[in-house]
Amino acid sequence: MAEPGKVDMDKIASLVKRRGFLFQSSEIYGGLASCWDYGPLGVELKNNIKREWWKTNVQQRDDIVGLDASILMHPDVWVASGHVGGFVDPMVDCKDCRKRWRSDHLNGDKCPECGGEVTEPRMFNLMLKTFLGPVEDSAHQVYMRPETAQGIFVNFTNVLNVTRKKLPFGIAQIGKAFRNEITPGNLTFRTREFEMMEIEYFVKPGTDKELHQKWLDARLQWYVDLGINRDHVQLRKHGDDELAHYAQGCYDVEYLFPMGWMELEGIANRSDFDLSQHASASGKELSYFDDESGEHITPYVIEPSAGVDRSALAFLTDAYHEELDDKGDLRVMLKLHPKLAPIKVAILPLSKKETLSPLAREIYATVRDEFMTQYDDTQSIGKRYRRQDEIGTPICVTVDFNSLEDKQVTLRDRDSMKQIRVPIAELVAVLTAKLNSEPF
Ligand code: GLY
Repeated sequence: MAEPGKVDMDKIASLVKRRGFLFQSSEIYGGLASCWDYGPLGVELKNNIKREWWKTNVQQRDDIVGLDASILMHPDVWVASGHVGGFVDPMVDCKDCRKRWRSDHLNGDKCPECGGEVTEPRMFNLMLKTFLGPVEDSAHQVYMRPETAQGIFVNFTNVLNVTRKKLPFGIAQIGKAFRNEITPGNLTFRTREFEMMEIEYFVKPGTDKELHQKWLDARLQWYVDLGINRDHVQLRKHGDDELAHYAQGCYDVEYLFPMGWMELEGIANRSDFDLSQHASASGKELSYFDDESGEHITPYVIEPSAGVDRSALAFLTDAYHEELDDKGDLRVMLKLHPKLAPIKVAILPLSKKETLSPLAREIYATVRDEFMTQYDDTQSIGKRYRRQDEIGTPICVTVDFNSLEDKQVTLRDRDSMKQIRVPIAELVAVLTAKLNSEPF
């Protein structure tokens, strides 16, 4: 049995594929390596993560506003940002088996697969290219953005003009980004197409160190508040040799995956690098007028930059639990936080009989107006509970023959398996309270 925090990645992979969180992209054509499609439950989980992030960082704050910039941008953006020149990984090839590796991921100078000799490292730019218009030449070449951040920097003045925000203030964005990773892998951990949740938080130079620390604390706590075991997340300071070309200092929020501590989110101090670069390359003013000093300043930027797919994988991994029930049968559970659970409530009529289904359907219609709900009347009630446990549904509502008489239903809690009887008239209110962590 898997102990919490020591779960095998194969078990997670098997569950997410079996229950439709994830499908291999283009599977009927043999699949496309490292590209994944989120199935019916996966898309709910991912949307819940993004909604919680937006709620915490935009909805509940006065100092951060949102943006949704386009993926394709003027190619000069990526020259000024330093990505054309500096967004590179060192790549080596095995001379025997021809496998390709990131040399900074190797422990030594031999191929990890076959032990063969590898070539000297060559620098490989990670940006994916495409063409706009019908002609495929360099005049029409553009990049698929490798980070959403640049859409924020180039809109700095637009956002400032319409919001009249005072420093410190931030701009938040969620969106897809693309990187031609040399060695993708570990399910959705490293993929070539992925989704990011990024904040560029503009601050007065001199206040950047203190505000950087505040963001480190806030972002670590966000994962814990959404159910990740505190012992499974940590902050790690980047060494000088691993800093991105724009970063003055950076910490990673890391999660203890089965394959070790791995990055969920980078929180960098980008200084005034990006705004200064774009101001000089575009010839446009990208500054802030500081009322106190009466001067134009170029703000510094603190950037919490999180991966949606990695977060989803971490939340799934941390939620995975196995236990033996009193009959000695294995119970697999996703103890997902109710805010993240793809399905919040399952309505389970005890029998498929005509006498029960109209009431059960009526309850279902009411509950699904409020929460993501599933109706399931197949197989035994025990099997249906197990199915809901395995996809992380926090509450099952059982409609039985007594319900017809006493107008009550049974609520079952996923984690404790405790059951309580609740009047149908109070069902939505009770579900709301329980899903907001009121104990059973
Ligand atoms: N914008 C942060 C990153 O690209 O990782």
